[in-house]
Amino acid sequence: MNLNDVKKIAVIGSGAMGHGIAQQCAVAGYDVVMVDIKQEFIDNGMAKIKESLAFLVGKGKMTQDAMNDVLNKRMSTSTSNKDAVKSVQVVIEAVPEIMDLKKSVFKEISEAAPADAILATNTSTMSISEIATAVKNPERFVGLHFFNPVTRMKLVEVIYGQKSKDEYINLMCEISTKIDKIPVKVLKDRPGFIVNRISAPNQALISAILDEGKIQPNEVDAVMKKMGVKMAPFEVADFVGLDVFCHTLEYYEKTLSPQYKPGKYLHDKIAKKELGMKTGQGIYKWEDGKAIIDTSKETTEISPIHFLSIQINEAVKVFKEGIAGSRKDIDDGVKYGMNAFAGPFTLASGMQPQQITDALNALYQRYKIDMFKPEPEIVDGSFKTLGA
Ligand SMILES: NC(=O)c1ccc[n+]([C@@H]2O[C@H](COP(=O)([O-])OP(=O)(O)OC[C@H]3O[C@@H](n4cnc5c(N)ncnc54)[C@H](O)[C@@H]3O)[C@@H](O)[C@H]2O)c1
Repeated sequence: MNLNDVKKIAVIGSGAMGHGIAQQCAVAGYDVVMVDIKQEFIDNGMAKIKESLAFLVGKGKMTQDAMNDVLNKRMSTSTSNKDAVKSVQVVIEAVPEIMDLKKSVFKEISEAAPADAILATNTSTMSISEIATAVKNPERFVGLHFFNPVTRMKLVEVIYGQKSKDEYINLMCEISTKIDKIPVKVLKDRPGFIVNRISAPNQALISAILDEGKIQPNEVDAVMKKMGVKMAPFEVADFVGLDVFCHTLEYYEKTLSPQYKPGKYLHDKIAKKELGMKTGQGIYKWEDGKAIIDTSKETTEISPIHFLSIQINEAVKVFKEGIAGSRKDIDDGVKYGMNAFAGPFTLASGMQPQQITDALNALYQRYKIDMFKPEPEIVDGSFKTLGA
């Protein structure tokens, strides 16, 4: 199968991710069938698609005719996975993050879809290879990790399971480009893939700073904001929700290192239901969707250099572990998956190895977290040409 053979795509699940993926595929000219278990969930997803397209029309980025075409000619819906996948070339699954559910959905799909269809999962944390055990043709099974909100975030991580064949990974990259995304290949099915893995140790740092209680979050965020970041680290934690933040750390604790264990501060906040933006109080108080942060004082103990040094150190590990094939893939991943100004290798290219090494050693001395120890390629400066 090549790109021109792909005409119809089934999107399984019409929730936060599914409706965005369906919209993106339909706007690119694919026939799309969007599935959910209840008509009301489908109606909800369709309403969001309409709202999003109407916004584009209002901004002059899409014509009314094109919008009508997407809604009336490209999009269809179904409450049956079996019926929906019968005549498609590609299936993209976006059902809740529950292993047994994903496996049962894929077992059903694999039996009903054409034998040569490519099956993809949008899982953010689960093993692609394990989900692939539910399908008949695991060589045609891939991870396709979109970022939220799908219509605005450019990155898609295209992930190899143990048995995925290059030709299907390559085709999914082509399809991703056609639907106006930037694909980055993830060569190994490891926790966090590329982008979330690179930010994982910074999450551990945030938890450690909160537990230590000596450096004030607002004083760190003040420094970061002064450097031009749109959302500072503690603000982000509140934005995603301290329960979600804590859950992510627990996932890395199980899959990457026990040192990701979330600390007392986060557990106490969760017990008090102070979860961040969604409850109006987290690390910060939130009003009208905005955190109230006193930026009048800045810490001198933590700087953007520390956060960047951790990222570049983790990026070196991601490359050495063979998860990413090049520094460009890592930089593109971070840039387009985190909406960053640039990726870690690009940002660190003008820095002295000693500066990064010192920042990492200082963090390691202070918090005794092994993930902060500088990799040899950081110390000797060879990270500057790694994966070039
Ligand atoms: N939300 C995010 O920020 C985000 C980002 C990247 C990846 N993901 C991943 O995307 C997937 C979906 O997440 P979401 O946030 O869209 O979830 P969601 O709960 O918003 O939507 C899931 C939808 O799947 C439907 N569904 C459940 N069982 C089904 C079945 N058997 N057949 C068809 N549809 C079914 C649900 O009714 C629901 O509408 C998860 O694997 C998640 O980890 C989420």
